[in-house]
Amino acid sequence: MSNDTSCENVHAIQFKHSTLILLDQRKLPLEETYLHFNDATSVAHAITDMVVRGAPAIGIAAAFGIALQARQQIKQPAFKLQEAFEVLAASRPTAVNLFWALDKMKSALEKCAHLNVPEQVDFLEKTAQKILQDDIAANHKMGELGASLIDSDSQVYTHCNAGALATGGYGTALGVIRSAHEQQKISMVFAGETRPWLQGARLTAWELMTDNIPVTLSSEGAAGQLLRQGKVKWIIVGADRISANGDVANKIGTYNLAVLAKHHHVKFMVVAPTSTFDMSLDNGTQIPIEERPMEEVTTIKDIKIAPNNCPAINPSFDITPHELIDAIVCEKGIIHRPNKENVARVVG
Ligand code: MRU
Repeated sequence: MSNDTSCENVHAIQFKHSTLILLDQRKLPLEETYLHFNDATSVAHAITDMVVRGAPAIGIAAAFGIALQARQQIKQPAFKLQEAFEVLAASRPTAVNLFWALDKMKSALEKCAHLNVPEQVDFLEKTAQKILQDDIAANHKMGELGASLIDSDSQVYTHCNAGALATGGYGTALGVIRSAHEQQKISMVFAGETRPWLQGARLTAWELMTDNIPVTLSSEGAAGQLLRQGKVKWIIVGADRISANGDVANKIGTYNLAVLAKHHHVKFMVVAPTSTFDMSLDNGTQIPIEERPMEEVTTIKDIKIAPNNCPAINPSFDITPHELIDAIVCEKGIIHRPNKENVARVVG
C-alpha cells in the first residue's frame, strides 16, 4: 500500500468503459483491491456485503447498478429494470441516499423513454455520472461551510468513516476536517475505532494518514475520558438519514457521543448532503434501523471472541435526537440548532 497518494486520488467508486469499479473496503487498510461489476445484482451484493459503504457511496453505486443492468439489455427492444430496482432497494435499509438515487434513475428512465435503447443506456450512464460528480461538489461546499465553524488549533473527534471512501470523493465529515486542516485549524483528529466493522480504525485512520492529517485512534470507550479532559472542541460525524425535524440516523455509537458532548459542553456537528434528508419522515423514530448478523459482533475476522452460542445485538445505526446537535451542515447551508423549522428553512 503506497502512502504517498492523496485521498483526492483514491476513489471508492469509478466507472470506466461501462464497468463499475469498487475499491473493496473490507480489505483496507492492508490491501487495495478493486472489484469489477457489470450488473445490478452483483452491485446489490457488494452493498449488502460492505464492499462499498457509506450513505452517499451506496446511493452512487446503486445508480450505476441500474445503468449497468440497462446496458445488459442494450440489444432488447425495451428495458425490464423493475427487478434491478427491487434488488438494489433491498440491499441496505437505513441510508436514504440509496432510495434517493434509485428515484433519480427512475425519473431519468421516464425522461429518456422517447429515445432508442442505446441512447437510453447512454442517458442512464450519464445520469449516474452526474450523481457522482454532484456528490463531490456538495462535499467541497460542505467542507467550506463546516470549516467556517471551527476555530484555529482545534482538536476534533470523528466516528465511523464519512470520508472520500464513503462518498463520491472528499467526504462529508472528513470533508469538513480536510477543509479545516487546509486552513491550519486542526491540531488533531481523534478517530473512534467504530465497532464492529472498525471503519474508524481501518478507513478513517488510513484516509487521514494518507493525506498527512494528524490522527490518533481512540478506542470506543475512551471518548468520555477524552471529552472529560477537555481535549475535543467538536465532534464531527456524517449521517445515513435525517428526518424533517433534524433527528439523525448514523453509525451505531453516534448517539452515545452526542450525549457525552452535551454533558461536556462539546459542540456536535453533522455533515450530510441534502440527498441524506428524508423530509417524508417527521422524526427519527420512523427511520428503519438495519440489524446485521450477530457474528459481526461475536467474531473478528472469523475468530470467535465470545462464548459459543452467545447471543449478540448488532444494530448498525442509532438515532441522535436533534436537541443534541449544534449544527447540521449540508451543501445548501448550515442548519444551526436543528428543528423542523430550521431544517425546512435551509433544505426547503
Ligand atoms: O455501515 P456503514 O459503514 O455504511 O456506515 C456508514 C456511516 O454510518 C457513515 O457515518 C454515514 O454513512 C455517513 S458517510 C458520508
